[in-house]
Amino acid sequence: MSKALLKEVKNNFLETFNAAPLLIFSPGRINIIGEHTDYNDGFVFPAAVDKGIAAAIQKSDTGTSTAIALDLESTINFELNKIKPSKEGCWENYVFGVFAEIQNRNKVIGDFNIIFRGNIPGGAGMSSSAALENSVVFGLNELFNLGLTKDEMILISQKAEHNYVGVNCGIMDQYASMFGIKDHALHLDCRTLESSSYKLDFKEHQLMLINTNVKHSLSDSAYNDRRSACESISKLLGVEALRDATEPDLEQIIDKVTPTNYQKALFVIQENARTIKAAKAIENNDLELLGSLIYQSHAGLSDQYKVSCKELDFLVAQAKKNKHVLGARMMGGGFGGCTINLIAKTAAKAFAETASKAYKNKFDKDCSVYFIELSQGTHLVE
Ligand code: GLA
Repeated sequence: MSKALLKEVKNNFLETFNAAPLLIFSPGRINIIGEHTDYNDGFVFPAAVDKGIAAAIQKSDTGTSTAIALDLESTINFELNKIKPSKEGCWENYVFGVFAEIQNRNKVIGDFNIIFRGNIPGGAGMSSSAALENSVVFGLNELFNLGLTKDEMILISQKAEHNYVGVNCGIMDQYASMFGIKDHALHLDCRTLESSSYKLDFKEHQLMLINTNVKHSLSDSAYNDRRSACESISKLLGVEALRDATEPDLEQIIDKVTPTNYQKALFVIQENARTIKAAKAIENNDLELLGSLIYQSHAGLSDQYKVSCKELDFLVAQAKKNKHVLGARMMGGGFGGCTINLIAKTAAKAFAETASKAYKNKFDKDCSVYFIELSQGTHLVE
């Protein structure tokens, strides 16, 4: 949690609205393994991190509401009873969407002012959007005593993303951001929303992120396309979700699906199995196995699910050349953002340097390296 960030939004709020706000910190997330499995009712393995969104919120007595995104130097005034989605890609959709979903649950809220700023790099695949949605729903719940449970809040955040932002996301990001536990990752069953927490102590190894600093357009529509492909294959298989299917099941319908969709479904089935194996590997402290599952995950995301890009593939190839990296893969929805690397602590700095240099040579742009801490989920800051 960033103290400076919180202080900044607080002071800004005091200056702008002349009132003391509630302060909320809502983190972004990493994901060890289990990509594109969440909307297939499968398993994921995320953790909340120390980067996120700081929000300051308080009731407004002016008859209107205001939201201010400090990062974007953008202010929006709105009336609650006139809310509708803004143009695609506008940040206020995250705020409006949450508000609209709360209203859909017949919960009454009044006018409010909110100011936020984040330190999750945009497009890094670390879920700044879920962090923002969670900060808004959490703040409104506190402010207006809505009595929402955390489970309800994450479903509201997810629906906001579906209906206002236009991405039919799964539940991983909102869950990890809301329920994160310091120093732990969450092995989450996205069907039951039950998770087991794993204290992550890789001893001589650590996780390191490398951000490609690219975000290719069309990623939202490509995401939604993949989700519908998975759903139509589930239907063909007569199962509720791909989580319920096995590889032999899939083989039975090989003639009924296109080869590309076949590979996508196969990836999901295999990735789900890998995520279950990864939990066992961590229990057994078998980092070699964990690393190899992570590499396999990337291969599947790139070759079968087709959500990687040349920058991500390049960074994973760099990792593969270094014997101190046990595993590396793209993280999040894809088409840009970060790779996550499981690397020997003593080799991390050197690898960061060589990979950065190679990346610059190849693409004539910089990548960024992050060392992260696993943190508590969305919470009120006293
Ligand atoms: C995005 C979505 C998540 C999940 C990942 C891929 O982050 O928001 O729900 O599907 O992509 O694993």
